[in-house]
Amino acid sequence: MGIKVIGWGTALPEKVLTNADLAQMVDTSDEWIVERTGIRERHIGGTTAGLATEAGQKAIAMAGVDPSTIDLLILATTTPDQAVPATASSVQHALGLSCGAMDVNAACSGFTYALAMAAGMAAIGAKRILVIGAETLSRITDWEDRSTCILFADGAGATLVDHTEGQGALLGWDVSSDGSLVHLLYADHGGYIQMNGKEVFRQAVRVMVESSKRSLAQAGLTADDVSLVVPHQANTRIIDSALSKLGIPSEKASIVLPWTGNTSSASIPLALVEALDKGRVDDGDVVLLVGFGAGMTSASAVLRWPG
Ligand code: ACO
Repeated sequence: MGIKVIGWGTALPEKVLTNADLAQMVDTSDEWIVERTGIRERHIGGTTAGLATEAGQKAIAMAGVDPSTIDLLILATTTPDQAVPATASSVQHALGLSCGAMDVNAACSGFTYALAMAAGMAAIGAKRILVIGAETLSRITDWEDRSTCILFADGAGATLVDHTEGQGALLGWDVSSDGSLVHLLYADHGGYIQMNGKEVFRQAVRVMVESSKRSLAQAGLTADDVSLVVPHQANTRIIDSALSKLGIPSEKASIVLPWTGNTSSASIPLALVEALDKGRVDDGDVVLLVGFGAGMTSASAVLRWPG
């Protein structure tokens, strides 16, 4: 058994924080932020459960399925609303689901980790699985630290996957982690994100390229076969550099970063849904999801749309 995607949705908090707003808060400028990151504005607010529920509701409504037919909810998040229980439990209740529910924390690689796990669960009998990436990074961002507050934001993206005979959508996958790099990006309990931006940048390009190559090799495909890339939205320079090393033209990437900022595990589903809603994905297209994040984790998935 494999998986195919039958519904999707997103959620962004109403409140928009522009680069001009940030320039009133810390010593920075719109010009610096746009040139160094590609970000112009971001959405801030809400709870992880609230955003995840809104995105999940849209995915279920789009698929037109009865919520009682969903077997599992996997919520990728690095900003759960509470230490205990998993935020997925609140989302399950709010969506009226009666299935298993769990959080997965693999930082910005979380959604891709969760999608690979969904395929594994489908292979052992789960029929419908709701996979959500949701974050409220604004809660762990130090709004007085200009080196990090310009990057992070809140949001959620969801996909509902159904089981299908045969291989389904997932042709290749890779989940990786290099725990020797945990010091590059972390937040202690009750603390703010601490980051060595330059080193994260350097490692991010490397792991995105390596992970993509592993997934493509497993799928028996090359970069030339890829119709759409959905990269983790952290910095346009990281994305451009990784794509250039992979030999994939940057026009093939779905980019939401300028108006979402870095939403960690929500960023890949936000950019995937953007491409789907714009009609950029045709049946049979090969879609490459690739992300990296704290840990240092990385993950990629090669999908044949829709499965
Ligand atoms: N505005 C103006 N100047 C700034 C700002 C700012 N917001 N932030 C830093 N600067 C200054 C620095 O102080 C430095 O000044 P100096 O030369 O006088 O010392 C100068 O700008 C250059 O700073 P760098 O840190 O070298 O700038 P860089 O080009 O590396 O860009 C950035 C910084 C944008 C953070 C970049 O390193 C980056 O994007 N790194 C990756 C971060 C990332 O992707 N993190 C998320 C990972 S995913 C996850 O798990 C959440």
